[in-house]
Amino acid sequence: MATHQAISTSDPDNYSGYRSFKMGSFDLRRDEYFAHIDWPNGQHVMSIDVFLRALQRTVAWNFFYGTINFDAVFGTLNHYGNVDMFAGRFNSGYREGGADYSENFDSDQLMAGLKDMLDDWTNAGYDPFAAPMETDKPYGRKNGDNKAAINRLRVTAERMVGVPGDAVPRSDETGHPVNRAFLDVDQSEPIIEAEPGFENEVCGFSLFAYLSRSDVTWNPSVCSVLRDSLYCPTSEEFILPIEHGNDRVEWFIQLSDEIHWDVKDRESGAPRAKVVMRAGDVAAMPADIRHQGFSPRRSMLLVWENANSELPGIIARGEAPVVPVIF
Ligand code: PHB
Ligand code: FE
Repeated sequence: MATHQAISTSDPDNYSGYRSFKMGSFDLRRDEYFAHIDWPNGQHVMSIDVFLRALQRTVAWNFFYGTINFDAVFGTLNHYGNVDMFAGRFNSGYREGGADYSENFDSDQLMAGLKDMLDDWTNAGYDPFAAPMETDKPYGRKNGDNKAAINRLRVTAERMVGVPGDAVPRSDETGHPVNRAFLDVDQSEPIIEAEPGFENEVCGFSLFAYLSRSDVTWNPSVCSVLRDSLYCPTSEEFILPIEHGNDRVEWFIQLSDEIHWDVKDRESGAPRAKVVMRAGDVAAMPADIRHQGFSPRRSMLLVWENANSELPGIIARGEAPVVPVIF
């Protein structure tokens, strides 16, 4: 694996008016419809909407757990402090043909370049976090920017949404309207009658009301934290913009409507399962797969993550199984 850290950008150099970006030996440029990615032994093209939705998650989630596959070829692999940008690394055809390429970067340096690219390549009116029906199109020549949309921060509670001092707005405090798909969701908040002295400990909020007002899709917020246990609820519509290859088990609890999951082998991309989850269904995603969800209508999903930073090593060394239960 080559190690380069040079990240530079060039001035507008094509008719579309976007900047081109050099990240190590990767060259990235966009035109009216596509992102073009070149590396020393190959090149790739992706529809710009697919690319920007994936790039937005990569930036917002700081490379996330494990692998972010933008598609079957291009993505990033998080080593927590440093990160690989790869092409064909998790694609058996590229691997067997010796056509894969991977390069290691300091995480902060690469992130700065990716943020710059997201900002330059996102036009006014286009919101990569939004469902396709709730945003303008991303295509065409360079036209303004949308900094307010792309710099949204995820809600990350320290304890739980609604606990005094957590500084996280409850659903009725965000100012976001109820989404068109969730107009029937009860907006009342629970009445809490705590014993004197326990007012800071006994808390509650309506998670359904909270999610009904989410203005983004496929962007989990951390709503409760108990040691390494993170509850990350999210509202979903259309397609999870990445094929996520996790480095630990994660749980899904489908809170409303339905999501269809494509589950593939993490290394090769070979298909492994189709999982259709309807309201009330619970599934554990193994630590050796990649997955992508398809939500035909806006739905609510609870992603339950284990943030223990030793887990990837424990699983990689075979000291813990890749599934939560062996029957
Ligand atoms: C996941 O990769 O597990 C994931 C990411 C974002 C979501 C839901 C699931 O909104
Ligand atoms: Fe995942």
